[in-house]
Amino acid sequence: MSAPRPGVLITRRLFPEVLQRLGEHFQLRDNPDDVVWSPAELIERLQGQWGVLATQGDRIDASVLAACPDLRVVANMAVGYNNLDLDALARHGVQASNTPDVLTESTADFGLALLLATARRITEGERYLRAGRWHKWAADMLLGAEVHHSTLGILGMGRIGQAIARRAAHGFSMQVIYHNRSPLDAATERACAARYVSKAELLRQADHLLLVLPYTPANHHIVGAAELAQMKPSATLVNLARGGIVDELALAQALQSGQIAAAGLDVFEGEPQVRPELLALSNVVLTPHIASATRGTRLGMALLAADNLIAHHQRGQLLTPIKASPSPSL
Ligand code: 8YV
Repeated sequence: MSAPRPGVLITRRLFPEVLQRLGEHFQLRDNPDDVVWSPAELIERLQGQWGVLATQGDRIDASVLAACPDLRVVANMAVGYNNLDLDALARHGVQASNTPDVLTESTADFGLALLLATARRITEGERYLRAGRWHKWAADMLLGAEVHHSTLGILGMGRIGQAIARRAAHGFSMQVIYHNRSPLDAATERACAARYVSKAELLRQADHLLLVLPYTPANHHIVGAAELAQMKPSATLVNLARGGIVDELALAQALQSGQIAAAGLDVFEGEPQVRPELLALSNVVLTPHIASATRGTRLGMALLAADNLIAHHQRGQLLTPIKASPSPSL
């Protein structure tokens, strides 16, 4: 008689291919109605499970781990892992993986799309047209900021930041400057035609500032009132990473007062709730955390999370383990 299959909980609705692959190895409990569970509901469903395929909305911390002693593996379907308490995982002997690389290129595409939409006022123009306000062409109607040959500042220069830099430098002839905990090696800098600068210089020089750094306690509100005050009044700010990186109230004030020109936000501190102060502004493009949302990429992320569970079950090793690092990157 074969040994019983270990149990795996899938916290959100995923693609049939993923369920099929996991179903060959595990006893699955899934969430076909895609309900967002409370922490207590998550704990209840994790009872007796060996593994979990989680998303960035599932907080797995000391209290969850203490209540779920059978849990051995967390496969996070995201490159970011600020939803996981790594110290608590280590204390409980639970291994965790994320999904780097598979989302890099499509997230970089979206970064450029959000930058272009913001700087060139694309969604604002569409709202203007749909509201029936477009009565005549005008030479000064909806003037935006130049993107080509402008200076792009990137805060956080991991895989996604580098992919954005390559597009910006080689596709849009932008000058790319970046700030990171440490500079890239010279060959990587050359490949993405990017120059390392201090954070203060980045804020001062960027025509467009893109945030692609992981959310850690040290990065909480790393862009706040003081940083916004150093930026050009013509600058745009784009946040692709996590909401908590930006002080959203300070940002709303800076956008309202004209301290900076515009912002493009794909992530929010209390998502899916968005601050009314941001919703009220016309010079901000707001998207619902979709930077990695192409079918191919989301399927790739889900399959990589599934393969991590399978690899750990078969060989005791994760494919893309999260390693506690003093300088994580996206
Ligand atoms: C995901 C993300 O769409 O990977 C990340 O860290 O923020 C996004 O790509 C989302 O987290 C899905 O779990």
